[in-house]
Amino acid sequence: MSGTQLYDAIGSTYTVTRRTEPRIAARIWAALGDARTVVNVGAGTGSYEPPDRDVTAVEPSGLMRAQRPAGSAPCVAAAAESLPFDDQSFDAAMAVSTVHHWQDPIAGLREMRRVARRVVVFTFDASDTGWGRRFWLTRDYLPEVADLLVGWPSLIELAGAIGARTEPVLIPWDCADGFYEAYWRRPEAYLDDHVRRGISVWARLGPAAEQRAVRSLRDDLVSGRWAERNSDLVDLEAAELGLRLLIA
Ligand SMILES: C[S@@+](CC[C@H](N)C(=O)[O-])C[C@H]1O[C@@H](n2cnc3c(N)ncnc32)[C@H](O)[C@@H]1O
Repeated sequence: MSGTQLYDAIGSTYTVTRRTEPRIAARIWAALGDARTVVNVGAGTGSYEPPDRDVTAVEPSGLMRAQRPAGSAPCVAAAAESLPFDDQSFDAAMAVSTVHHWQDPIAGLREMRRVARRVVVFTFDASDTGWGRRFWLTRDYLPEVADLLVGWPSLIELAGAIGARTEPVLIPWDCADGFYEAYWRRPEAYLDDHVRRGISVWARLGPAAEQRAVRSLRDDLVSGRWAERNSDLVDLEAAELGLRLLIA
């Protein structure tokens, strides 16, 4: 299933848990530099769109476009791999939590590079051999996530496609945007159906893996096993879970 089809199927409750996390937004907006015109690719419902610049959104899912708040930036129905803009039409192009849904991430990144002088992408490092161990949810409950990453380009390949440098983005313990890693210090959140519906990983893995993981996590929270295994997290304010900014 393509990323567009996925969001046309699962996107209706996106805004229940997904919104701009101000500390991550500050990093993205700083990386945009002095750009006045910005294209936001895979824009979804408009999270992270800077309020003080001239933004054009691009979003292929009709269900996601329909949920953009009144007064938000104009939104074009298109996919990253074929942006309907002339070369260098924008000062900057941004893409947040979307590249992993594209049919051809490298082609999409090259399109961003073609239409803008500056490119800022928030994504994750899937190539690090230690990534599976970095996050307890994947390590102890959802090892199947590894299957989703087969064939996925490495961070080096993604960055190389646009000549980007990479910067780590630590995830605050109380992250406001409910993406997959957001609740690393709030494990009970993953027991909540609403939280899981805002995270595409669960839909991609299917109900059998989801039910098994949730059951197992619930048991470990009750027995104290989760707390024992993850005692090093309790006092952390922010965690390095492989999230990265690519800046070109
Ligand atoms: C997790 S959402 C992120 C939305 C928004 N950027 C945010 O931070 O909330 C992923 C978005 O990527 C979009 N998407 C899927 N395939 C795409 C493609 N080929 N090109 C551009 N966007 C795509 C989906 O429709 C969805 O809206």
